[in-house]
Amino acid sequence: MFDKIYHWIDERIDLKSLQNKLLNEPMAGGARFAYVFGSVLLFIFVMQVVTGILLMFYYAPTADHAWESTKYIMQEVEFGWFVLSYHLWGASAMVMILVMHMSQVYLWGAYKKPREVVWLVGLLLLLIVMGFGFTGYLLPWDQRSYWATTVGVEIVDKVPIIGDFLGRFLRGGAVPGAQTLSRFFVIHVMILPLGLIAIAGLHVFLFRRVGPAGPFKGAKRELTAKMEYFFPGQVYKDIVIVLLVFVAICALAIYSPHQLLDQASPEASDLDPEPEWYFLFLFQLLRDPALSFLFSGEWGEFLGAIAIPTVFLALLVALPFIDRNPERNLLKRPIAVSAWVVVMLSIVVLTIRAIQFRE
Ligand code: HEM
Repeated sequence: MFDKIYHWIDERIDLKSLQNKLLNEPMAGGARFAYVFGSVLLFIFVMQVVTGILLMFYYAPTADHAWESTKYIMQEVEFGWFVLSYHLWGASAMVMILVMHMSQVYLWGAYKKPREVVWLVGLLLLLIVMGFGFTGYLLPWDQRSYWATTVGVEIVDKVPIIGDFLGRFLRGGAVPGAQTLSRFFVIHVMILPLGLIAIAGLHVFLFRRVGPAGPFKGAKRELTAKMEYFFPGQVYKDIVIVLLVFVAICALAIYSPHQLLDQASPEASDLDPEPEWYFLFLFQLLRDPALSFLFSGEWGEFLGAIAIPTVFLALLVALPFIDRNPERNLLKRPIAVSAWVVVMLSIVVLTIRAIQFRE
């Protein structure tokens, strides 16, 4: 029966060649766990879309109803609390896996010729994922989300040349209010998802054109690894990690569900506004007493909130063009590896200090 259906479809749309294209991709150096991160990111994104659509059945994106509808989701809708908490932990997981994916391609030198464009398109995806975090944070419309967004948009205002326009565009008025919420909502549920689907499609298409970089020379496995195809070896590895990530996100959603604070109120709040944890390191740069000699005052704020992140991003863009040495062996790239260690350590230390600062 199934055979017949398969042949009927195969005769019409040539399933065999589709299967060949999708599954029989040669994996340089054989299937390995180092290649799972991209697939895990795609999986998390699909789940964010599914849970996001479920939330939209109940969420009302207006200043009058956003907070109440979120409270309704958390307290009244069956499993609403789980879906919302999954969505929030899913976002955190996406950022974590994104950092791992970037680290892996960076440390393996996979940004080098001929994969420069894959790397650059990846950077667009990084910006989109950060945009998701920033815009989504406002949607519950509680005190924390309102005040953190107020601070965030004030930082956008300070960007030279386009900052004023961008700030007004995001805010939709003099102070964050109903317009801001509508705009953030449209960006979060329409513009960014469409952007991510298109750009991730391009990213994977380009990756398939050049093929995986494979292990760098000197890696022991390369000598023994046979040539394998994407299916089945890599698919199985991907599925194992995807399942682990799924279980971890579910567990986090169950054991640490989202906490909704009081409804947003534009009158001054005594709450110290804080962004989502993955932006905390940047925030701490501006408020850490140990660094106040560098980052206080108007210029200090500009340096910490705009100049350093922009220069860092520009360096990431320029990386494949600055580092033209084809050498991909980690042990022979001390500068690249030290730079990665310094950046990661700074982010971890600043995040830990931000959490201590809170207590
Ligand atoms: C939502 C975000 C992203 C998704 C869904 C994604 C997806 C993927 C997938 C499916 C692959 C194929 C192989 C693999 O899994 O390693 C890949 C490879 C690659 N990605 Fe991404 N990626 C994302 C973000 C990024 C970022 C931020 C960068 C770096 C700036 C990046 C750079 C690369 C590079 C250089 C490769 C080629 C790796 C190789 O040849 O070994 N990606 N990506």
